Amino acid sequence: MTSERPTREQIELLLEAATHAPNHHNAQPWKFIVLAGHAREELGTVMAKSLADRLEETNSENAQARLNKERNKPLRSPIVIVVVAEPSKQPKVMEIENIEAAAAAVQNMLLTAEEMGLACMWRTGDAAYDPQIKQWLGLESGDQIVAFLYLGYPAIPRLERIPIAFKEKTTWTGWE
Ligand SMILES: Cc1cc2nc3c(=O)[nH]c(=O)nc-3n(C[C@H](O)[C@H](O)[C@H](O)COP(=O)(O)O)c2cc1C
Repeated sequence: MTSERPTREQIELLLEAATHAPNHHNAQPWKFIVLAGHAREELGTVMAKSLADRLEETNSENAQARLNKERNKPLRSPIVIVVVAEPSKQPKVMEIENIEAAAAAVQNMLLTAEEMGLACMWRTGDAAYDPQIKQWLGLESGDQIVAFLYLGYPAIPRLERIPIAFKEKTTWTGWE
């Protein structure tokens, strides 16, 4: 992605699309945290610190390179939107269903971004499941990070991806 930042209006259209995602019992179990500018740098610093805590040593060239790479990850796009699923507060809504709803919200954002000519990539990685990151973002303990959505303008053409044919993934039953 280039360093050109999408406008606030463009990002708000994505967020609006997200809130129309299907969700069970109208739970609307999502939260969004839009990180721009120095907030991405701060996230990178927390990610690198957390990785350092997990490494056996941090002095070698190899460890320093890994820490640097981690620190720079959120700088790969001008905007990172953290999409969070809240825990279920209703007995009829299973825990997984709120994650599914938040994932549907992410897909709405991806499709809207595509339509607008923006580049948008769904990433997770260790940081998504890291208590230090959740704390820095001010999340509740039951909240789950479903996506780090990297958003910007495409710098390179999208790589072609050929999916496994649906025929190999589908069973038709009772179809005469
Ligand atoms: C839950 C989830 C997590 C993902 N995490 C990563 C990730 O951390 N890093 C990555 O390179 N791609 C990740 N991907 C894959 C990309 O978002 C994307 O689907 C893939 O690169 C194919 O790109 P395309 O859809 O533009 O063809 C993840 C996808 C999903 C659904």
